[in-house]
Amino acid sequence: GAPVEVDISSLAPGEMVTVEWRGKPVWVLRRTTEMLASLKKTDGQVADPGSERNPDEFTPEYCINEARARKPEYLVAIGICTHLGCSPSTKFTPGPQPSLPDDWAGGFICPCHGSTFDLAGRVFKNKPAPDNLVVPRHMYLSDTRILIG
Ligand code: FES
Repeated sequence: GAPVEVDISSLAPGEMVTVEWRGKPVWVLRRTTEMLASLKKTDGQVADPGSERNPDEFTPEYCINEARARKPEYLVAIGICTHLGCSPSTKFTPGPQPSLPDDWAGGFICPCHGSTFDLAGRVFKNKPAPDNLVVPRHMYLSDTRILIG
C-alpha cells in the first residue's frame, strides 16, 4: 500500500488521531510531559521495555528507545493488539480505573482478553499479548507532517 501523510498541526498535547494505512488503524498520539514521564514508571512493569524483541517486525531501529519514537512527543503505532488482533481502547486518565492497577498511568487496554499497553505501546508483563504494539516505519516531512509507510 501507498504511504499515508498525516497532518499533525492541529493535534493538541494529550490528543490522538487515527489514520488508516494498509487497511490498519495507525494512531498518532501527541504525548504531554506527564505522559512521557509516566514511561519511567512503566519501564519496570512492561515485558520488553527496550523494544528488543524482533525489532524488524515491531520497532524500526530509529524508534528503539524508551518513548519508541523519532520525536518523543509523538507516538506512532498500529492500533491492533499483538495477541489476536483486537483494537485496544484508550485510557489516558491516570489513577484508579476499573480492572486496572491502582497506579494506572494511562495507556491502552484490549477489550478482548485484557492486555494492557503503556503510553509507548509497550505491553505490560504477564498479559496474553506477547509483544509491544507495532510502530510502523515513518518519517517527518516537516514539523507538522508525518509520512507513514
Ligand atoms: Fe488483545 Fe487478546 S486480542 S488481549
